[in-house]
Amino acid sequence: MANIVQILVVESNNRLRQVIQDLIEPEVNYHIAAFSKTGAQVPEMVRKSHPDIVIVDTDLQDMSGYEVCKAIVAEEGGPLVLMTSESDEMQAVRLAMRAGAREFIAADKLETDLIPMMKELLQSTWMDDSAPGAGKVIACVSAKGGMGKSTVSANVTAELAKRYPGRVLAMDFDAQFGDIAILCNLNPNRTLSHLVESGDVVDIDLLRAHITTHQLNFDVLPAPKRPEYGEYVGFEHLNQAIRLARHIYDWIVIDAAQGFNTGSLAGLDNADLVLMVTTADLPALKNVKLALDSLQGKHYDRTKIGLVLNRVTPRFGIRAKEIEAQFKYPVLGQIPVNYDVVLESANQGTPFVARAPQSNVAREVRALVDRLEKVVREGASAQPASDGTPATGSFMSRFFSRL
Ligand SMILES: Nc1ncnc2c1ncn2[C@@H]1O[C@H](COP(=O)(O)OP(=O)(O)OP(=O)(O)O)[C@@H](O)[C@H]1O
Ligand SMILES: [Mg+2]
Repeated sequence: MANIVQILVVESNNRLRQVIQDLIEPEVNYHIAAFSKTGAQVPEMVRKSHPDIVIVDTDLQDMSGYEVCKAIVAEEGGPLVLMTSESDEMQAVRLAMRAGAREFIAADKLETDLIPMMKELLQSTWMDDSAPGAGKVIACVSAKGGMGKSTVSANVTAELAKRYPGRVLAMDFDAQFGDIAILCNLNPNRTLSHLVESGDVVDIDLLRAHITTHQLNFDVLPAPKRPEYGEYVGFEHLNQAIRLARHIYDWIVIDAAQGFNTGSLAGLDNADLVLMVTTADLPALKNVKLALDSLQGKHYDRTKIGLVLNRVTPRFGIRAKEIEAQFKYPVLGQIPVNYDVVLESANQGTPFVARAPQSNVAREVRALVDRLEKVVREGASAQPASDGTPATGSFMSRFFSRL
């Protein structure tokens, strides 16, 4: 239930409890995780269940609601507290704000104000740059087309979803020729183009309404169905969608179109880790080198960039060690060429990590996800695995020294 807002209600008054319950229950994206009549155990409940919002009455059976509010907000990264009271005197509002509540609603205004206020509160908090969500963003980019971004994105998403069921979102930012829906056998009615059609501001409800859930326990924000529909997808739309998604999911995997464009720039700007997907042949690597130089010129954090070699063959192609030594970026994954498994799973619309988990390609995606989890979760920087000494005199070093 990653994309459902979890609410804890702390209310001693049975009638008000019922009012709040009746208001929240019909809202599909909001869920009352727990009720409490008393305040003493609330900080512990918050620590255990991590609600997004806590609604606290100012007058509780055992203690003052203001004290409960103070105790909750004292914890870093705690939920938003919304206070309610049968009294709407200025004094109650002032005390609630002083205790750290983000909003105050008088009990007789709950029916009209509670839901809109919660939505507004989440929207403004989640769009605030100073409080980014905890979700981690992986952006799959490539210098050239056809390198395997979509294959890698779909399979990394499905592999992450095995480890974090319901907490992974694939965002298809290839606004013209996105493939994630077809690789996952989805035929969504709502896509990125419908999302941006609705206006300049992407809000939580809008984002949720355009997300499709896959049976393998991940969600997808699909690309527009036709290339011309992608024209209106702007950088700020994508930026906002990522920022909101970070609050709803643990992992966000972005499949960007080749080169530098709206989708890849939004991905690069927000990524905790960029996977530059490439084949290991000279023309592809030449473009990777140019793209990496360009990113360095734009001051992207190089410790957040790793390479993924795709369609690797044992007999041909340039070795990972040599690429690392030459580029000074780590190779985080080496996915073998396997037309039987990759094409079959693309045609069947099931990522191969689920369809053929014993295959060599699935095994390598698992190893890639192990590494990216380590880099992103444990804050390890994506350093080259080799000692970084270019093999001087090699054909590759001579070639790249000319660029
Ligand atoms: N490891 C692999 N072995 C065999 N075929 C592969 C492998 N990875 C990808 N392919 C195939 O290569 C082609 C391109 O892959 P994919 O569509 O994932 O690339 P892309 O980078 O997303 O392309 P585009 O730039 O068009 O979005 C597809 O036909 C895919 O099935
Ligand atoms: Mg693609």
